Amino acid sequence: MDNQTILVVDDTISNLDVICNLLEDYDILTATSGIDALEILEDENVDLIILDIMMPEMDGFEVCKRLRDAKKTRDIPILFITASTDEDSIEKAYEVGGTDYITKPFKPKELLAKVAMQLDLVSKTHNLEKLIEIQLEQLRDKDALLMEQLKKAEMGQMISTIAHQLKQPLTVISGMMSSMLMDDMLGRDVDVNTLCLKVQDEASFMAEIIDMYRTFFSTDIEKKSLNLEKIIEDTLYILSGSVANIRFIKNYQKDLEPIKIYKNEIIQCLMNIIKNAQDNQDENNIYEKVIKISTYKEDEYQVITIHDNGGGIPEEIKDKIFDNYFTTKSKDAGTGIGLHLVKQIVEEKHHGEVYVKNEKLTYNDKSVLGAKFFIKLKIS
Ligand SMILES: Nc1ncnc2c1ncn2[C@@H]1O[C@H](COP(=O)(O)OP(=O)(O)OP(=O)(O)O)[C@@H](O)[C@H]1O
Ligand SMILES: [Mg+2]
Repeated sequence: MDNQTILVVDDTISNLDVICNLLEDYDILTATSGIDALEILEDENVDLIILDIMMPEMDGFEVCKRLRDAKKTRDIPILFITASTDEDSIEKAYEVGGTDYITKPFKPKELLAKVAMQLDLVSKTHNLEKLIEIQLEQLRDKDALLMEQLKKAEMGQMISTIAHQLKQPLTVISGMMSSMLMDDMLGRDVDVNTLCLKVQDEASFMAEIIDMYRTFFSTDIEKKSLNLEKIIEDTLYILSGSVANIRFIKNYQKDLEPIKIYKNEIIQCLMNIIKNAQDNQDENNIYEKVIKISTYKEDEYQVITIHDNGGGIPEEIKDKIFDNYFTTKSKDAGTGIGLHLVKQIVEEKHHGEVYVKNEKLTYNDKSVLGAKFFIKLKIS
């Protein structure tokens, strides 16, 4: 650590001299009045202040109070110099925010010991602060990295879905073209008009798909009034490439009013929960994969539930699954951010609630245990 700096404030020059001599190993600044001290402290960084109480104009107590009120000087330790073991002024010294006191006439050893102790505390505090800052920085880096990984995985999945979805109309178009060429080659009549209209249809369908993904990748700036059923259907459409082996049972309450939400963030929540359900069904080798999605209104909330048949969440981890970084998956398979993100989006951005229960899902006369996630969104 750099040399530490002490500001000594005393209106009696001979006192200043004595103290400065004793503390010759430190960097010393001096002031002969309270005003003077406050001015110096505006420009200089000081580690410790030795402050006389009895001074004309502004006494040590007043100086101390002002230092405690200012952000820059709030934490600097202050050693008061009291004339005697005057109980009242010692008590007041602590009251106004003093750290310790020494009595005049000084015992050099006592002064040196108290100064050394305070400066030691200052440097330890500095070191701790630095350590905390470094660790926070590391955590922030880790967060950013994991976020990046999650995004990449999601992007990869989505890109394959986009490719898949664009391929369908493309296949239709190229099929129509080849049959037209064939007809032409065989000398049959070719209905160019009808064909062009069909190609146009397919092309505008492709444009729609592209538009949908374009808006998905932009972040929501404001909430919009939207229908939950539509949001869920959009999500399933985006995921369609990767959830083809899951049977979705839908149970939407039909007369739900539109609700104000951040669309893309809710889509992200749904994707995360559905993806988790699928992961769990895969892991438990569930042959007939089923997810039931329901919507309904309850008090001042609109609720979405997502219920799978993957076996449920083990009791011992049920309390932890929404924690940041909590995952039971391997490093490549999961970051443990998914549900934490869901919780943040639902609770902080939609004044809602999200929780999970293990419940049996009934389908095809069967009843199979699974996790049921509840997303409750406040109707504003
Ligand atoms: N439907 C579910 N059935 C059983 N366990 C689940 C289910 N959903 C989540 N879990 C458990 O909760 C954990 C945390 O889920 P979360 O989505 O936060 O992280 P993750 O899926 O492990 O990783 P990622 O951040 O990549 O999504 C999972 O690792 C899993 O153990
Ligand atoms: Mg997940």
